[in-house]
Amino acid sequence: MLKLKENFRLGVSSASMQIEGGQLNSNWHDWAAQNKIKDGSTPANANDHYYRYHEDFLIMQEMGIKDYRFSVEWSRIEPEEGEFDTLALEHYRTMIIDMKSLGIRPLLTLWHFSHPMWFEDKKGFLNAGNIQYFMRYVGVVIEYLGDLVDEYITINEPNVYAIMGYLFNEWPPSNNNGFAQVFKVMSVLSTVHIQTYKHIKEMLPHAQVGYAHHVRHFTGQPKVNVKMARYLFQDALAIACMTGEFKMPLRNIRRFKKGIYVDFIGINYYTQTTINNINFDFSKDLPKNDLGWDIYPEGLARVIREVYDICQKPIYITENGTCDNDDRFRARYLADHLEVITKMGLPVERYYQWSFSDNFEWVEGESSRFGLVHIDYETQARTIKRSGYFYKDLIKNHGITQQMVQEYLVGSAYDTHQG
Ligand code: BGC
Repeated sequence: MLKLKENFRLGVSSASMQIEGGQLNSNWHDWAAQNKIKDGSTPANANDHYYRYHEDFLIMQEMGIKDYRFSVEWSRIEPEEGEFDTLALEHYRTMIIDMKSLGIRPLLTLWHFSHPMWFEDKKGFLNAGNIQYFMRYVGVVIEYLGDLVDEYITINEPNVYAIMGYLFNEWPPSNNNGFAQVFKVMSVLSTVHIQTYKHIKEMLPHAQVGYAHHVRHFTGQPKVNVKMARYLFQDALAIACMTGEFKMPLRNIRRFKKGIYVDFIGINYYTQTTINNINFDFSKDLPKNDLGWDIYPEGLARVIREVYDICQKPIYITENGTCDNDDRFRARYLADHLEVITKMGLPVERYYQWSFSDNFEWVEGESSRFGLVHIDYETQARTIKRSGYFYKDLIKNHGITQQMVQEYLVGSAYDTHQG
């Protein structure tokens, strides 16, 4: 049994490249064309959400979902440098008007790992001189959509993007130059966040603006390495983005003054990382999801406290969810994480589950399923999963009743399904 706090809001999250489909001139289409996606899929069709958004909003409405985090696609809005596509902008206007008319409140992300190829060709966020292009795009989006949307996420998970694309080389642009580039990209993206924050506040003083910070719970040995990994992966970045203080190894390119550059703390949490000397590992004891990630709900409370120490603003869990291809333990995962945050004394005000529907999971492609709603990629049929009905009941009851425990949680222990 669980009673959620009064005024606590439950929503769902998504990202344009992962659901929209369409022949886009973007870094991820280029990456897929180079056969880099593990299961051979591409984002070309994805969930066809660009044309089926109304159907998806109706399903959200049926599930009682009133909060939706999504992103608009820069490569559609500005497919060629300096050429803005009014039809794409009009499309997003119509889409947002539609979701609002169904009682769904938008939280709009401006960049979620995808951008136009012309920008990539200029070395993207590795080059501080390119920030001007992003700011111009932001200006156009706010001009077009600002009267409809009050809440914004500037950028998504700068640390994951920097590591995957510039150290592990699993994501575009895969430059293979190691840590120097990782910290450069993190510095540029922190600058992008602060400039975007300021720009939106100038254009829309009433807007609420933050960024989505990916945090892991770090554990392992030796402790000094654990601390260092945590600092380099997430803490230095959070301090820079939220307070304008750029500590080593990050660089304050625009000499921002110290201040507060978020109106809320956006937290994306999935798993923990175990440090084994200088290696990253998964724990031997914890249950795993279908990508082999540790399932560790208590870690969410710990990372929230760590970030709240840096900046005391309302906390939104902007992503939390799991890869559970057969929907065996997703309901339990959600219940366990919600229980942890409900017990905390800190102002956690919202929770956006990742994700509303199965979608194109970056380099894993279509075969890793994170959705409350199943997508048949052949027919584009949408089917609410058992965990989706659990979420619907969760919203309806604003908590977990005894009946829900019996119906969804009993017998859905993680241990029955180790990755
Ligand atoms: C990203 C999502 C992604 C999810 C699951 C987050 O890091 O923001 O785009 O699908 O994790 O891997």
